Amino acid sequence: MCGIIGFCRWDGGEPALAPEPNCPLLGQMFRSATTMAPESHLEAHGAADAVARVMEGLHHLEYRGYDSAGIAVPHNGVLMVRKDVGHINEVDTQQNLSAMTGDIAIGHTRWATHGGVTQANAHPHTDASGRVAVVHNGILENYLVLRRELLAQGILFRSETDTEVIPHLIALELQNGHPCLEDAVRAVCAQFEGSYAFVAMHAGEQGKMVGVRLDNPLVVGYAEDGAYLASDVLAFSPHATRMAQVGDGEIAVITQEGVRFIDAEGCEVQRKTVPMDCKWADTALNGFAHYMQQEILAQPAALELCSMREHKELIDAAFAILGARQVVFTACGTSRHAALIGRYLFSKVAHKFSDVLMGSEFGYFAPALGTDTVVIAVSQSGETADVVEGVKLAKQAGARVVSVVNRPSCLLADMGDYVLRLKCGAEVGVAATKTFMCQLAVFHMLAHAMANRVDEGRVELSHAGELLYKMLHGLNYSLERLAFSLKDSGHFYYIGRGINFATAMEGALKMKEISYIHAEGMPAGELKHGTLALIEQGTPVVAVCPNDETYADTMNNVMEARARGGYIIGISDVPSDSFDYSIPIPVVSPLLYPLLSVAPLQLLAYHMSVLRGCNPDMPRNLAKSVTVR
Ligand code: F6R
Repeated sequence: MCGIIGFCRWDGGEPALAPEPNCPLLGQMFRSATTMAPESHLEAHGAADAVARVMEGLHHLEYRGYDSAGIAVPHNGVLMVRKDVGHINEVDTQQNLSAMTGDIAIGHTRWATHGGVTQANAHPHTDASGRVAVVHNGILENYLVLRRELLAQGILFRSETDTEVIPHLIALELQNGHPCLEDAVRAVCAQFEGSYAFVAMHAGEQGKMVGVRLDNPLVVGYAEDGAYLASDVLAFSPHATRMAQVGDGEIAVITQEGVRFIDAEGCEVQRKTVPMDCKWADTALNGFAHYMQQEILAQPAALELCSMREHKELIDAAFAILGARQVVFTACGTSRHAALIGRYLFSKVAHKFSDVLMGSEFGYFAPALGTDTVVIAVSQSGETADVVEGVKLAKQAGARVVSVVNRPSCLLADMGDYVLRLKCGAEVGVAATKTFMCQLAVFHMLAHAMANRVDEGRVELSHAGELLYKMLHGLNYSLERLAFSLKDSGHFYYIGRGINFATAMEGALKMKEISYIHAEGMPAGELKHGTLALIEQGTPVVAVCPNDETYADTMNNVMEARARGGYIIGISDVPSDSFDYSIPIPVVSPLLYPLLSVAPLQLLAYHMSVLRGCNPDMPRNLAKSVTVR
């Protein structure tokens, strides 16, 4: 889940001809350096400094990890590395990254897995001679064995990371006669177990960088003045016009002459480029204090967009689901909460039973999957390792896969037989908000498609969007005041029943991840089976109890918590004296309540985070894209 990026400036400038859509990329699409006057090109387009581009890209990749960062550039026959602990701006201040320059550079922003958050463990990592540098995302599962073998050969390690074996092994392969970096990379990848994406540079091969991936994202970006390799298109979206995925197990080689791809056997592979979806990647803050605030307030418009989605894609997926003997959602975190609500929608609207399995537990049920199973993989990033792994197992068992994703190009979209996209633009805040809302919207539409009532679903969603807009603007100030009164609480409990219990779980997750207050969400009926023992005088209990089939029973649980001194915050369309604080929501059809009741919970958590001096966009220890298992 770290962010990796490399940029190589074209000396010869932009392609002689605009690339044909989907043309194969074999270097020759770029005009060679000798066929044009480089100076005139550089005057026309400005000579991009590779370090500046990599730093800019790292800022866009910080959502993937932000505990340390670093950059490597070629310098006097070796590679100069500067790295340290902290966000990219802090590392720049400490190490003066901005003073580095070059035609080619690689960089990294880290989310620690192996080894603590220290300067030595920050990337890039190099071999002993400092002539091979690597930035890496993922986990090499057999790194201890490889490390022991390298130690036995007298190689000294400077970090505790799994990554460091990579530059040492590449250097050995080059010493042992592999003629070029890509051949050495191919040879070392054959020794790895696990999943990874990394980019490497070799001081002996000026102007070249090589990237490889296995079950981790890596994309190539084509700009007028150079090419990128990065974990995500966001890293280069301001500059690139086209992009191409690096295939699983493939190697991308970027030089001054262009880009080429080879497979694990060293054979050339042809890869298609596609235009960049720049609208998707527009991540300006637009005057908001935080991305999270902007993304919460973007939800009504996102619902409206979701209501307009194409009929055919819904119907195709709906038929597959209806025809399956068993239907299983797999997802993690917030996406799993959305799936739990989707499950109720399938049951209520289309009378189709389904189950929800956590991504990290899914594999243990693999023996029960078969050709009559449909797996619905829900993931905004489309690259969560636990979900990807489960989907792989499901496909091996012959199951069909419906992928519900937000990113335009991602692993799970590639793996899906049916792909339903959220289309709500990039979500930058680490805490998922608008993608959760759109996942609910997709399930609402899908459930209605399964019941042959798509148009009804559309009208309902659009109506919910209008109500949400009014509600959010009316509630913002009062929720900030509520947050102020509760900001020193040590614990929060969230309860709800039926379709509302996952809303309670999501409210609790939002609270704990961005404000660092302990918060637990649960089905309201479970409270009395243990957790009630923790309710004391003044303990905040958030009850999601709209006026639906769950109302009366949830209110009983509210009374039980209140009798033990709980401070009850009720989210409902029915006012009640049993609430110490009331968050009013509009009256809607019962299946739409989650859409309306989750938004105040997101806003409450947001204000709580800001009032407690936390950064809601970058909570400690977390990252937006979780590509490790
Ligand atoms: C919480 C949050 C996480 C993600 C989880 C799955 O706000 O964002 O719990 O929901 O890591 O991520 P995706 O949806 O990318 O698979």
